[in-house]
Amino acid sequence: MVDYYGELCTKVYESDKSIAGEKELEFYLSFVKDKTMKVLEPMCGNGRMLIPFMEKGIDIEGFDISEEMLKVCMQKAAQLNLTPTVFCEKIEDFKSDKKFDLILIPFGSFSLLSDELADRGLDNLKAVLKGEGKILLTTITRYNGIEDIPEWVETNRKQFNQETIVEYKKVHFDETNNLLKMQLKYESYQGEKLEKTEVMYFPMRLYIPGEFESILKAKGFQNIVIHEVKDGYGQGSLFRVFECTKY
Ligand SMILES: C[S@@+](CC[C@H](N)C(=O)[O-])C[C@H]1O[C@@H](n2cnc3c(N)ncnc32)[C@H](O)[C@@H]1O
Repeated sequence: MVDYYGELCTKVYESDKSIAGEKELEFYLSFVKDKTMKVLEPMCGNGRMLIPFMEKGIDIEGFDISEEMLKVCMQKAAQLNLTPTVFCEKIEDFKSDKKFDLILIPFGSFSLLSDELADRGLDNLKAVLKGEGKILLTTITRYNGIEDIPEWVETNRKQFNQETIVEYKKVHFDETNNLLKMQLKYESYQGEKLEKTEVMYFPMRLYIPGEFESILKAKGFQNIVIHEVKDGYGQGSLFRVFECTKY
């Protein structure tokens, strides 16, 4: 069975990426000028960013393709007496009558979209962005030293009470299309007994420097600024965020 951010993947994700760190949060919060702003987080997953925004009293809503990720988001929020407005939707199909002041897609999530879906996604975001609104989004940049892993290799092992979840991956880098074709496999064990397996096809579009900026320009986005957030994911890390407007 092929899952996408299914139960086991979500459990592992939540175990070490539950809430955004201070620096990352601080960066995105700096774009919220007042509490009347309407914020949208497409691909919000487990609420890693959305929940801390809600805790600050910001009017944010989100959506995601994965029911499991959204379930975790709701459960986590409920523990804080919060009720998030989140729903299951694909960015490529997303339509709304609402208009937003700020749309954010952190953590490289946009790179999970194929070129066709990214194109449709950008059109959909543009349609719900207010005239003076801003989009902030992150992609993953192509890096050196990518190696194919043709057979399953164990990459992670997590213990949850009696359950052990083991994660494996296979990788093929399609250099022509800058597509990192990964497959992830999660196995859940109770003791020695294999209880459940999830296999996830996980392609990731890696952009070469300058490429995504050109895509935004070609789609008519304006006022493009590339921010570099040093130590944003922890000491020694760096991530880039594209800021743009529709006019
Ligand atoms: C790496 S997680 C990041 C979640 C969240 N943005 C964060 O910062 O933690 C990527 C999320 O994108 C969602 N996703 C992938 N493709 C999607 C699509 N086409 N439409 C909506 N959500 C999608 C996945 O289900 C997953 O929850």
